[in-house]
Amino acid sequence: MDLISLYPTWYEPTVGSGWVIALIATFHVLASHTSVGAALLFAYLSNKAYREDREDLLEFIKKYGLFLMVFTYVAGSITGPGIWYSTTVASPSGIGSLIHSFVWKWAAEWVFFVIEVVGVYMIVYLVGKVDKKTHMKITVIFGIASLATMLIIVGILSFMMTPGKEIWFEQGGFLNAFYGTNTFIQTFMRIAFMFTMTAVVGGIVVAGIKDPAFKKEMARKLGGLGIISTLTGAALFQWYLTAVPDQALLVMENRLPEYFGPSIIGVIVITITYFIVTMWQPKFVIESFAGFMAIVILVLGLWPEEVARESMRKPWVAGQYVYSNQIIGRDVPGMGIKSQLPIIEKIGILKAHPFTPDALRTVNEGNKIQAGEFITMVYCSNCHSPSKTGIRPLHRYFPEGIDQARMEKYVKGVLTTGNIAYMPKMPMLDSEIEALSAYLVLNKKGGQTAINKAIESEVNARNHTALKTSVHTTRTTANAQQEAK
Ligand code: HEC
Repeated sequence: MDLISLYPTWYEPTVGSGWVIALIATFHVLASHTSVGAALLFAYLSNKAYREDREDLLEFIKKYGLFLMVFTYVAGSITGPGIWYSTTVASPSGIGSLIHSFVWKWAAEWVFFVIEVVGVYMIVYLVGKVDKKTHMKITVIFGIASLATMLIIVGILSFMMTPGKEIWFEQGGFLNAFYGTNTFIQTFMRIAFMFTMTAVVGGIVVAGIKDPAFKKEMARKLGGLGIISTLTGAALFQWYLTAVPDQALLVMENRLPEYFGPSIIGVIVITITYFIVTMWQPKFVIESFAGFMAIVILVLGLWPEEVARESMRKPWVAGQYVYSNQIIGRDVPGMGIKSQLPIIEKIGILKAHPFTPDALRTVNEGNKIQAGEFITMVYCSNCHSPSKTGIRPLHRYFPEGIDQARMEKYVKGVLTTGNIAYMPKMPMLDSEIEALSAYLVLNKKGGQTAINKAIESEVNARNHTALKTSVHTTRTTANAQQEAK
């Protein structure tokens, strides 16, 4: 039988699986970037503390380090596996493709991560217990290990947008997958924004400093760092846009929500204003204000960034060959990977999918809505929520009063052909087009209530037939037995 490698679909009706991942990932980026930036800041400060023989700088590192341990390391260590769990169920083929290309990279990253976690404890607890020079050495190792985790992960993240080099499709090879223009620019951009986060979160630690002169010094240092890194990051973002696939630019230009542009500019202005205020009047920096501003800046800045990154990759989720709906849509000779589209074109998605319930493998009058619902879950739900809420709810994209004939024409003309750049090609047999269209029309007209009712009557009718058949078989068997006697 021609089955393709697909997994059961994970569907989260309220917000959609995509947003569950985005939520976890946003927290993770916040925690991880803040820690890596802080690690480099610590290396600088500890060096200065050694050279100028200053206790107060080490005290500052200790306080900031403790804050990181309690907040970002705990949050990072919970959300990190959270990303693994959520992406594995929401996007199993996508994560599979990354593991196939990068398993040893990830192993290496975890080695550095272990050094990082041990390092942060050492840095905090050894202040005052070892001499300044030893402390500086530990801090430098900690900084290098932290930066290494980031350098490794950025290569993997940029592969999700596009493999490093085009030649990877033909030849494979993990360096071809890993290194490309996109990787380098994204690395610089993330380093810049990472320092912004470190400076913003550092404000909370600065707020707790008692000595006014030292508070002023640290507020100025962090403010300066924040302003420079924010402006550099914004400039690098413009450069980054030159290194993403054309398709991503198309989605950026046409498909990002209208609030996107203004909100990014707004966040940059708020951030820089905040840093200027802290540099100019350090006494305004009290814990509640600094904490509040950290949340505002980080959430407002990171959320649109994560949404954009998710949207720009469409229709792919990884390597420009795994579609967001988990179907492999392109041959990759270098990895021995074959597109799954020809098989689906031949036998239909219902027969090709290994987890289609037996009763739905062939569309008929008795299972149309259920089959349509199954196809929607498999093909669309990763990007469009079939319910009223969540990510790009399907019902919003169809005009009022659309009927079966018009729906079929759209599904056949647009969706099965892959004519829209940001959606996958989704081949279907005519009977499947009919089933999907019937479901989508009902979804538009009556929503979930209408669908549940239709499915209930389909199931009842099937059970009724099944009952009749089984009664019939029992009777025939009984008759046969009687006759045999
Ligand atoms: C890879 C993700 C993805 C998948 C899978 C996907 N879509 Fe889309 N679809 C999009 C994006 C992105 C848009 C643009 C949405 C926007 O601008 O808000 C879109 C837009 C649409 C539109 C609006 C038409 C237009 O011209 O823009 C319709 C209708 C639609 N999708 C239906 C579907 C149906 C039905 C399925 C499943 C059979 C599906 N999509 C699968 C990503 C996807």
